[in-house]
Amino acid sequence: LDDYAVSPVHGFLPTGLPLQALPHGYYAPWERLVTQLPDLIRAGQIRKLIDDLPVLETTWLQSEAEFRRAYSILSFFTHAYVWGGERPQETLPACISKPFLEISRHLELPPCATYAALTLWNYTSTTETDLTEPDHLSVLSSFTGTKDEEWFMVISVAIEAKGARLVPLMLDAIAAATVQDVPRLTALLCRFTDGLGDLTRTLNRMYEHNQPHVFFHQLRPFLAGSKNMAAAGLPNGVFYDVGQGEGEWYQYSGGSNAQSSLIQTFDIFLGVSHSATGGTSMKSSGTSYIQDMRNYMPAPHKRFLEALSALSNVRSFVMTTAAGSSLREAYNAAVMALTSFRDAHIQMVSRYIIIPARNCTPREIKATDTVNLATASAQVDGLNESNATGLYGTGGTSLIPFLKNTRDTTKSATC
Ligand code: ALA
Repeated sequence: LDDYAVSPVHGFLPTGLPLQALPHGYYAPWERLVTQLPDLIRAGQIRKLIDDLPVLETTWLQSEAEFRRAYSILSFFTHAYVWGGERPQETLPACISKPFLEISRHLELPPCATYAALTLWNYTSTTETDLTEPDHLSVLSSFTGTKDEEWFMVISVAIEAKGARLVPLMLDAIAAATVQDVPRLTALLCRFTDGLGDLTRTLNRMYEHNQPHVFFHQLRPFLAGSKNMAAAGLPNGVFYDVGQGEGEWYQYSGGSNAQSSLIQTFDIFLGVSHSATGGTSMKSSGTSYIQDMRNYMPAPHKRFLEALSALSNVRSFVMTTAAGSSLREAYNAAVMALTSFRDAHIQMVSRYIIIPARNCTPREIKATDTVNLATASAQVDGLNESNATGLYGTGGTSLIPFLKNTRDTTKSATC
């Protein structure tokens, strides 16, 4: 796991807490600005203050933790600059572009607001050892400064922290399948199913502090990308000016939890293979959208997924056993637990995106308002292309068709 920067305790989250500030005074202009980001965006001053920043060198960055902090700050600056005005701004100034391109090259990540920038490397906690309780987590940087944005991010951190416990478990299960140890594999799959159920419960805590209208109207515009965004005012993407008008146009997907390595690990482990390209907003590249999202993950994590794909043997082993066996039942329960997680997510999308997009006032969602998963599938299936037409995820997919396709592909892995 070490070779792939995966922690047996924290999974895809960093081993220690993310740096709260760059230690060198040289980067004080970035640190000062990022703490004021929500106020400056609200006051319509963010572009001017970014334009006034000096073009800082990256030579003072030393540890990987420093590179990650710098990457996260510049991701926030990039999306605040592009989306923080009445119309999108299609040219990024050199004070962002130059260091951001260098840092992104170092980290092998695209220079935009990825899941790593916004979530994996953007939190702190009252305890360093247990990151599973969202009430104990807070974000370092924010576009809006709202509790709602913070909650949106820390729910994912808590899911990553809880899911981390499943990573060694999945590796053990692969080892059990290799030696054809049926009782052990069955027991591990049962534990995996319980773990996924716990992740779904954590996901559903989103409703506690993230109000749909705040998410949709205040935060979501800043998560948008620059790929296939002609209608939003970025026909060519964003020009990264590295000085004197020199530079390049780039187009990137927006921030999306499809860039979570943890979630893709579950699919690989269970042998679920997603081929959906994401729908009509995506230029067909021959690869699936989920595959493409690996290019937005920290490179060691992307390599972990590739290595895991080569090892993944649980589904093929389960298929060699008799239909109706305890092992098959345990495997099918695990697949259905991942299906339920995706159903809960689709329901969430309906409340946070589809309803606000239709300009209805979302009914107030209270902490006590638990989602009944027994009826979730039926409600989700009521959402179709006609009542969610033209809605795209921040990652660029045609929202409901893509999510339902991904959910259905998951479900169809049962055997
Ligand atoms: N991917 C989420 C959205 O579409 C964040 O809003």
